[in-house]
Amino acid sequence: MALSAPNTSVPDDGRMLLRGFKRLLVLTGAGISAESGVPTFRGGGGAAVWRGMPFESLSSARMVQHDLPLVWEWFDYRRGIVAGCEPNAGHRAIADAQTSMLFDDLTLVTQNIDGLHLAAGSTDLIELHGNIHQARCLSCNFRQGLNEIDPTDRPPVCSECFDSMRPNVVLFGETLDDTLILSAYEKAAICDVCLVVGTSAVVYPANQIPVIAKRNGAVLIEVNPEETDLTPTCDHSIRGTACEILPRLFSSVTNQQHPAP
Ligand code: OAD
Repeated sequence: MALSAPNTSVPDDGRMLLRGFKRLLVLTGAGISAESGVPTFRGGGGAAVWRGMPFESLSSARMVQHDLPLVWEWFDYRRGIVAGCEPNAGHRAIADAQTSMLFDDLTLVTQNIDGLHLAAGSTDLIELHGNIHQARCLSCNFRQGLNEIDPTDRPPVCSECFDSMRPNVVLFGETLDDTLILSAYEKAAICDVCLVVGTSAVVYPANQIPVIAKRNGAVLIEVNPEETDLTPTCDHSIRGTACEILPRLFSSVTNQQHPAP
């Protein structure tokens, strides 16, 4: 079956796209935090490089084995960037929709490790790639918030077994936590609309979430200023930023639930 061309602009009734659905799954990527000041990995014609090294080699399981202090330097650098960033209107629109219970089910799945969805107040959240604000023991998997660890203690020493700790994030060459990805796949299979925001959709297995949703009959909507690998599969591909588009999309549902007297 030939796929019809997706809608690539905000239609006049673009703000109505989320109306009438009960089960929403939102998948976010680095793009949703771009307007908060967190750099993306790809898009905009560039790729992330630090001290002349591509992020794929810095953020890798191999680098943890070969140079753990360097991995900590890289993640402390990234955490320093995130520390100065606030959740934006895109994060808040999703969190508000969750707390106001605009849908029977609103699952938020993010590839981001910046913690900005939590800071915005999101509750039902799956952080597929971990959280930059936590450390994890290499041996016993004990996790600890970095706010409880001396910043000069690098690599930190596990208070349970005294082995070294690493950032609690998924690195290249590692697999995701089975429980998290399976839970995201289950939600994808039963949602009736899937909203994909700010991801290039090239990193496996997160990029299978919208594919599963679509295959199971969900309407697929993408919000991204650029075309992505997912665009041809989408029912609606909206060219715009998370801050421009998400408040508009969710406000129509608010009006539906709470019509003017
Ligand atoms: P990418 O950097 O690959 O893609 C970011 C996407 O956001 C691009 O498609 C941009 O066009 C889009 N974008 C930029 N500004 C935006 C805005 N203001 N509003 C909406 N969209 C915007 O980021 P991810 O797809 O999240 O994994 O990358 C996936 C994974 O690759 C990351 O989680 C990370 C990386 O390797 C790990 O580190 C394990």
